[in-house]
Formats: sequence, structure tokens, C-alpha cells
Amino acid sequence: MGATAAARVLSEAMRTQVAIVGGGPSGMLLSHLLGQAAIESVVIEQRSREYVQARVRAGVIEQGSADLLRSAGLGERMDRDGFIHHGTQLSNGGRGFHLDFTARTGKAVMIYGQTEVQKDLFDAAEAAGRTVLDECTDVTVHDVTGERPSVSFVHHGESRTVEADFIAGCDGFHGVCRHALPPSVVTEYERVYPFSWLGILSETPPVDDELIYARHDRGFALCSMRNPQLSRYYIQCAADESADAWTDQQFWDELRRRIPPDAADRLVTGPSIEKSITPLRSYVAEPMRHGRLFLAGDAAHIVPPTGAKGLNLAFSDIWYLSNALVNHYEDGDDQLLDSYSETALRRVWKAVRFSWWMTTMMHTFHDQGDFNARIQEAELDYLAGSEAAQTVLAENYVGLPY
Ligand code: APR
Ligand code: PHB
Repeated sequence: MGATAAARVLSEAMRTQVAIVGGGPSGMLLSHLLGQAAIESVVIEQRSREYVQARVRAGVIEQGSADLLRSAGLGERMDRDGFIHHGTQLSNGGRGFHLDFTARTGKAVMIYGQTEVQKDLFDAAEAAGRTVLDECTDVTVHDVTGERPSVSFVHHGESRTVEADFIAGCDGFHGVCRHALPPSVVTEYERVYPFSWLGILSETPPVDDELIYARHDRGFALCSMRNPQLSRYYIQCAADESADAWTDQQFWDELRRRIPPDAADRLVTGPSIEKSITPLRSYVAEPMRHGRLFLAGDAAHIVPPTGAKGLNLAFSDIWYLSNALVNHYEDGDDQLLDSYSETALRRVWKAVRFSWWMTTMMHTFHDQGDFNARIQEAELDYLAGSEAAQTVLAENYVGLPY
């Protein structure tokens, strides 16, 4: 900080009820739900609003998450522009079958990009006049086990402090809040998978009305979409691969080899407008609370993208946390705050299990030999022929209740 900026250091701290670190889906939804219950919050985000809104992430919203957005008054654009999917295609070495979520569970999922959810959340925050400070640097949390925790940061050259009753750590996997839990308090569980996903976004019509999850000896592939003119495709690649190493043509050629032949014939290709690598990892930090600091979303756990649970887990955490805070402020009842970590983790672990299972069933593990490949084939064959097995997958995919 230069001399002029230093001279503008604010001596007075801002005061709020809940300081929210991170303006991703977790932080913004929490601010929204608290605002609806007249609980004040300040969101402290390190990136610019434009950056946060432009990040390309998954686009499958569980039925319960869609209902949560609707009941929070955030469902209008989703219901207008999103697409309800009643099932998905699964393919094994080019032979596909259809899994009907609605027939198996009575439920469906909503296809609506996380980038759109972020826009809706930021627009709602602006309309309600909620405080969201973006481009904050040097974000640090203080005194989380004391009575008056606070967050300090530099905002547009000014050093600032927000004092709060509680801090919500919604700052994602690379944030600072999780590190405020002393190592003696935290247990970490982790599995890093030996491959990544190479994903592209292209302004082409999706190859199918539904998503296609494809297992293939050459590696997994996924055909997804954002809208009738915008497609999202992924192929499994080596863990250390760089997106630049792949031309668009190489990507399309490889995708075609892994998906069912009729889909490969229909595939419309075009230039990629985004190309990126996603490493695959399962990670959980326990507990999700330390003193007056509560972790939510990616700050506490990561799932591999197979099954698209990341955003939905962030929503269920926030549902539990917002209810707990409302009970604290409205009724002076701290039972839900005290059980937050345990309640959230029970659901988290079920989604961690499901994402791990889908990842294990669908990907090629080069070091695991033929036995594993046979088990994967048997698992998919069993799924193709068993309503019971399909119900298990569908129940998890459309989202376990919360
Ligand atoms: N200070 C302030 N903000 C921070 C800091 C920090 N030190 N570190 C990170 N952030 C911000 C990031 O810039 C990001 O906007 O916290 C936000 C965290 O957002 P996400 O990573 O999206 O995590 P979350 O809101 O929990 O959402 C989880 O969304 O991002 C996807 O894959 C993720 O689908 C999952 C879901
Ligand atoms: C996506 O559309 O980006 C997507 C869809 C389903 C997944 C993962 C990602 O399982």
C-alpha cells in the first residue's frame, strides 16, 4: 500500500451480524437468505464481480436446489431459461441406455449454468441493497473463538475491518477461512484421482436432449449443455495435461471415439469459446465449525465433477447454516448452530460417496488392469438391466433430501 492509501486507513471498523468471506454461490446465497430474514451481512470477495460471474462451472441443479432457489425468489430466470431433464444417457464402450430419473424417483434435475445462478444472486443482492465488496485483498479472519470475531482486508486501497457476530467461510477450496482452524482441530480426508477432465464450451447445438455419460476404454467422456445453442463437452485426460496441448479438432475427434456411434454421427462441432482442465479430487475437512467461524461449500469439501454435486452441496450447507443463524437471531436458539457441522457433513459424505462411485465406475484407471475394467462393465451392465440399481443412481443424482 502506498503512502496516500495508508493515510486513508479507516480507523472505524464496520459492524455487521454475519461477515461472509467469498462471493461464490455459497456466500451469495447465504447473504440472500439472511437478508430475507432481516439479518445483516457483508460479503467480502477477492475477485471482481465480472470475474466471479464469468467462471464456467457445472450446470446441473438438483430438484431440491431448484426448489430452494424458487422459494428464495431466485427461480424466475431459471424457470424461464433452464431445462428440466427427466433422465440421462449412460454409455458403456459405445452402447448406450437411458436412465429415467422421473420414472425411478418422481423427480428431475434442472439444467441451468452456475454462471447464471451467480448472475441472479448478484442481481438480487444489488436490488436489495446488500453489501457485497469485491476486489478485496489481504483478507484475514481474526478471533474466531472469541466473542468478537472480525475480518480485515484491503478494499480499493483502503484497509478495512468488519466486526461480526459470526463469520461464514464461503471462500472456496483455495480460500483462507479453512486455515483458521488449527491443525489439531481439523481432520482432512482426501482422494486425488489420477486423471483430469478437459472441457470445452462451444456455440453449437447439444448432441442430445439429455446428458450423455460415457465410459470407454480410451477414457470417460461427457456431453452436457447450457442451452440449445451452447454445448459443454468433457473428455478424461492425463492429470498433468495442459489445455493448450489440445487443438479443437483433436478434442472433437477424441470425443467422437468415446460416445455412442449415433451420437458421434450427430455431433455438430465448432470452435471452442472456452477450454479448461479440471483436476478430480474428493476432499473433506472436519469439522465445519470452529468457534464463531462456519465453513460452507468448497471451503470445506470438494467432489469430482462426475454427477455435478459441487454446487448442490454448497446449497445444502447454506440451507442448514442459514436456518441455524435465523434460529439464533429470531429465537435465541443455538441448537442448529451447534449441530450444523454434523448435519451438513452427513449429507456431504453421501454426495462424496456418490461422486466417488460414479467417478470410479466411469473412468479408465490406467494402472488398475483388466479386472477393474471388467468390474466397471459389469456394473454398467447391471445398471442397464436393473430398476433397483437405476433407482439408487437416480435418487442420488436428483439429490438426497435436506
Ligand atoms: N478472500 C475472499 N474471497 C475469496 C478468498 C479470500 N481469501 N479466496 C477465495 N475467495 C472467493 C473466490 O474468488 C470465489 O468467488 O470465494 C469464492 C468461492 O467460491 P467457489 O469456489 O465457487 O465456492 P462456493 O461458493 O462454495 O461454491 C461451490 O461452486 O465454485 C463451484 O465447483 C464449485 O460447484 C462448486 C460450488
Ligand atoms: C456440466 O455441464 O458442466 C456438467 C454436467 C454434469 C456433470 C459435470 C459437469 O456431471
